Amino acid sequence: MQRKMKKQRTNHDNLKRVSVYHKQQWKPGNMVYPVPAVMVTVADKEGRDNIITVAWTGTVCTNPPMVYISVRPERYSYHMIQETGEFVINLTTRELTYATDYCGVVSGRQTDKFEVLKLTRQRASKVKPPLIGESPVNIECKVSQCLKLGSHHMFLAEVVSVHISEQYMDPKGKFHLEQAQPMVYSHGTYYGLEHVLGTFGYSVRKAGSPARKKRNQPSGTKK
Ligand SMILES: Cc1cc2nc3c(=O)[nH]c(=O)nc-3n(C[C@H](O)[C@H](O)[C@H](O)COP(=O)(O)O)c2cc1C
Repeated sequence: MQRKMKKQRTNHDNLKRVSVYHKQQWKPGNMVYPVPAVMVTVADKEGRDNIITVAWTGTVCTNPPMVYISVRPERYSYHMIQETGEFVINLTTRELTYATDYCGVVSGRQTDKFEVLKLTRQRASKVKPPLIGESPVNIECKVSQCLKLGSHHMFLAEVVSVHISEQYMDPKGKFHLEQAQPMVYSHGTYYGLEHVLGTFGYSVRKAGSPARKKRNQPSGTKK
């Protein structure tokens, strides 16, 4: 016997069609944009440190928390990561855009980028490279694998500690990264994130129901 299905109202009842693009086909290349442009701090065995800007970065696993950065072997920073197997990902903001660009076009071979940019070294808890004090989030990482892919070698790493700016914690302990005005990089240009377009899961949330409760731990959305 067929049960009569009650028609449920959904958020997409009034969904408008999104227009379809006409496209050119390009040769294979990197077109996954926007991406974060982070300032990665590194150090060698003697304790010399450096900052390199990296856009080829991301999260690869929730548990254990793992990330990657891809670095060209010819970068000055490369041998430092190889020597210590450690790095820190420092998230960037609107205010750090100039510094992010500078650290991506000037080599640390002859320049102390911390000095030139008047950035503050803070001691990390589990790794040798320093944290950048002006970055709202610092992610300490230990390399578990280096994949020699081609132009770039990908360092897969485990996150061993995370530092979150207290300034953006509300009294309930929620972290509001958006208040730090994060910056992204897209096809050669840096952008701010000005408008909220939706929140995680809003496409299936019942009309009128509150947004998904964020966890106090600032580890973002669970995926
Ligand atoms: C926005 C941006 C993103 C970059 N992303 C990467 C990257 O993902 N991997 C990489 O090896 N170099 C990347 N670079 C280039 C290096 O940051 C740059 O060569 C830097 O000067 C190297 O510093 P170092 O010689 O002190 O190590 C990027 C540069 C910019 C400006």
